[in-house]
Amino acid sequence: MSNQFCSLKPFNTFNLDVHARHIVVAETAVELIDAWQTSQQQQQPVLLLGEGSNILFLEDFQGTVIVNRLKDIKVEESSSAWHLHIGAGENWHELVQYTLTKGFFGLENLAMIPGCVGSAPIQNIGAYGVELKNVCEYVDVLALATGEVRRLLAEECQFGYRDSVFKHQYQSGYAIVAVGLILKKHWVPITLYGDLSQLDAETVTPQQIFDAVCHMRSSKLPNPDVTGNAGSFFKNPLVDAERARSLAKNYPDIPLYPQEDNKVKLAAAWLIDRCDLKGFSVGGAAVHRQQALVLINQEQATSSDIVALAHEVRQRVGRKFNVWLEPEVRFIGASGEKDAVGVIG
Ligand code: FAD
Ligand code: EPU
Repeated sequence: MSNQFCSLKPFNTFNLDVHARHIVVAETAVELIDAWQTSQQQQQPVLLLGEGSNILFLEDFQGTVIVNRLKDIKVEESSSAWHLHIGAGENWHELVQYTLTKGFFGLENLAMIPGCVGSAPIQNIGAYGVELKNVCEYVDVLALATGEVRRLLAEECQFGYRDSVFKHQYQSGYAIVAVGLILKKHWVPITLYGDLSQLDAETVTPQQIFDAVCHMRSSKLPNPDVTGNAGSFFKNPLVDAERARSLAKNYPDIPLYPQEDNKVKLAAAWLIDRCDLKGFSVGGAAVHRQQALVLINQEQATSSDIVALAHEVRQRVGRKFNVWLEPEVRFIGASGEKDAVGVIG
């Protein structure tokens, strides 16, 4: 399906009123390759999209947006695990629900994360103590110039906090077409994070974790169908242990999450909250009152409103704590991705 000068409103969860020259909804790898190669021949910019839940369109896109809707779910059983092969265009939360109904457990902590399965490896989606890397077996990437599909095993994907090889070596000229997940039959509940720790790890069921995660998320995070947003706007910053200690001296209640390599993760939401920015707005964009890390399209915001708000948040946190936040959300300009920190300033 191909349309000219189409609205991208249904394809970005910020619900911004931006347009693209063409939108192609690709249901097969051949359609994906055709759309990409046609754009290359015409020297037009091209952007791959899942559900647009981790992007900010800065302006109209002067080229073709290819929406990945490759659908497929195959299941194989081994003695110790279920192996799922999933088309990149499947919806992530629907997959989580599907696995629960089938009795394949391990995805329940990742319930209600918007977007496509194929986008999940890109920033190694994570929530409530689990990241995609914990269940990923492989990712299939299509080289769009040649049509060759390459299977990258999880250990080749360089998964990190909100990071992977798909933001670097495999960012340009490649499309993720399928993801392989491995869900172990011996299920171990992960209940360390937040309110999940109130559950009894001896008796808890996957369904109970799923319900608790859905409840927590619904109470904090705005539903993009109602209020435009892209989840956490910034990443949680990593600082070295010495810097964390000196922050804790001045702010004894600061949440600190020790990581590997003598690093400590800070809670960007807490830093923003401590600058009294909840509810702070610029034009139609605002800091969400229930979760300070989420910027929302409160009332017909423009991209510039969101950028100006992000600038203000970053500057105020930077001036107060000397910690400089970096966006998690990917910024898309007229002809492709832009450096988000450079745009915000
Ligand atoms: P898109 O926004 O469409 O694309 C993201 C990037 O990937 C773009 O740069 C795009 O060009 C590229 N891309 C998309 N598809 C492909 C493909 N097939 N091949 C190659 N490149 C591609 N994230 C978390 O990690 N944890 C959370 O708890 C979480 N909660 C959220 C809550 C809300 C309310 C919202 C709105 C977002 C949340 N997010 C969270 C962010 C978002 O859900 C994830 O980043 C998700 O994986 C994005 O999927 P998408 O299909 O919408 O990707
Ligand atoms: N906090 C505040 N004020 C707020 C919100 C939170 O002080 O307004 C404090 C909390 O009390 C807590 C800390 O900040 O001590 C962390 O808050 P929370 O547990 O809500 O998690 P987060 O760090 O804000 C991260 C992810 C989310 C993920 C949740 C749950 C990032 C950037 N964000 O949020 O992912 O769902 O943990 O695991 O890592 C996303 O990436 O889009 C996203 C929503």
